Amino acid sequence: MMTLRELTPSVGVEVSGLDLSSALTTDEIALLARAWDAGGVLVFRGQSLTLDAQSAFACNFGPLLRTRAGSRAGSEFIYVGNVTVDGIAGEFPAGEMLFHHDGCYAPDPARASFLYAIEVPSQGGNTKFCSTARAYRALPEALQREILSYDLLFTHQYGAVERASGHVEGPRYVHPLVIAHPITGAPLLICNRLMADSIVGLPAVQSRVLIADLLHEMERPEHVYEHVWQPGDLVAWDNLAVQHARTDFDPGERRVLRRQQLAGTTLVAYRDVARHTRSDSI
Ligand code: OGA
Ligand code: MN
Repeated sequence: MMTLRELTPSVGVEVSGLDLSSALTTDEIALLARAWDAGGVLVFRGQSLTLDAQSAFACNFGPLLRTRAGSRAGSEFIYVGNVTVDGIAGEFPAGEMLFHHDGCYAPDPARASFLYAIEVPSQGGNTKFCSTARAYRALPEALQREILSYDLLFTHQYGAVERASGHVEGPRYVHPLVIAHPITGAPLLICNRLMADSIVGLPAVQSRVLIADLLHEMERPEHVYEHVWQPGDLVAWDNLAVQHARTDFDPGERRVLRRQQLAGTTLVAYRDVARHTRSDSI
């Protein structure tokens, strides 16, 4: 029997009683999809998943994304890790990673990511998830309104786990700062420490100060769930409803996780959705 447990009041749902290596029923998939929309992150402990089983599970929720960057470009999975497995070198091998949304420097960031833990260090290397819906709701109302009209430039150097200072060579894309969740329509604050560059049209100083304020508000512990990994964990995150980060760990210890992602689409500004709703109701 499937049971759901909230991990924090704002983000994360632990699902127990499911063996993800066997096929799920339509009802189970629908229930998981609803829980995912509500909680942003689903956590399944004690799984034993081949690559095929992980793919089959992920495909219940949408088409898989082929990795676009790094040595694994074109593949449906990567190892996030600091060792080589079956001849495949791990990516993002070392250290802390600042908060980010996967691929938000591209026009269509991944819709979701699935990370399956194979080997984990004895301490650290935790993954933190921050609710972008909750972060937006927690802002003062005047600020909520003000930022609806802003767009944010994201830049990134693939593989970097820290923010470069100064100009970044690499992919870049402008998204609305506040988007509508593709399913629930809720406003989500899309800004993050690793990839947010600047707010389009604002003077540099004002842009820097606003981004710093938003990040400070977003990363408050009450918006965050921190996952302490065990081998056999599968964690699925909605890559828009949450941003994620990783804590540091001892590079002398092995860490290997297998990641898959769902394809995403262009992000829709919340201001556009809100305008529709208003004119519809006239
Ligand atoms: C990722 C990622 C965090 C981690 O795979 O996209 O950010 O904990 N991983 O390794
Ligand atoms: Mn990531």
